[in-house]
Amino acid sequence: MPTRQRILITSGPTREYLDPVRFLTNGSSGRMGAALAETAWERGQIPVIVSGPVALTYPDGAEIYRVETTEQMLEYCLRLFPDCNGVIGAAAPCDFKPEHFSEQKLSKTEGSNDVLFRFTETPDILATLGQIKRQDQWIVGFALETENGYDHALSKLRRKNCDFIVLNSPESINSETASFRIFNTSGKLCADVSGSKKTIVKEIFSLIDGL
Ligand code: C5P
Repeated sequence: MPTRQRILITSGPTREYLDPVRFLTNGSSGRMGAALAETAWERGQIPVIVSGPVALTYPDGAEIYRVETTEQMLEYCLRLFPDCNGVIGAAAPCDFKPEHFSEQKLSKTEGSNDVLFRFTETPDILATLGQIKRQDQWIVGFALETENGYDHALSKLRRKNCDFIVLNSPESINSETASFRIFNTSGKLCADVSGSKKTIVKEIFSLIDGL
């Protein structure tokens, strides 16, 4: 019997802490990651999920690794990717983190209303995995764009060494349904789908099957 395929899925937001109680994050719900994991499981594959903090539950049978920061997400992905057939980057990792973490809770200062923070960039998980991707592995990335969707999506596909990029718009954040366009490395439109996240996910898997 062939060994079951292992599909690495990044899911949900990450958090970057300013102090022990305050953090930077975004509205990603993890629903796309959960839909991908459910479909992979139904197809007989093993979903290997690296997830930031989310309220939903992932399907039974999935391997789940819970993280908070983008660097932790990268650390787990680097460890897990070599034993997976491919990765789907459905997470919305924070792209920036505060330059300094305050060990003590920050408090208001008398006198000035201005509070200045400096941020530094966090590592790009897919781009890092893209550098170590083997011939027998694949990468699917997502691009959420508000303008120049095609150009931005294609440049992300190249920078992150993806096989497919799924372009969507901000309305899909935290929503049950959305519309997506999927492009390949030649910039060709391979699918144009709207509907439930499950419908879109099926399309993503059928494109991966054709690689
Ligand atoms: O944030 P950006 O538009 O670059 O995200 C595009 C893709 O890259 C998504 O699939 C996202 O999961 C992934 N990404 C990542 N690590 C980051 C930022 C984004 O893997 N630090």
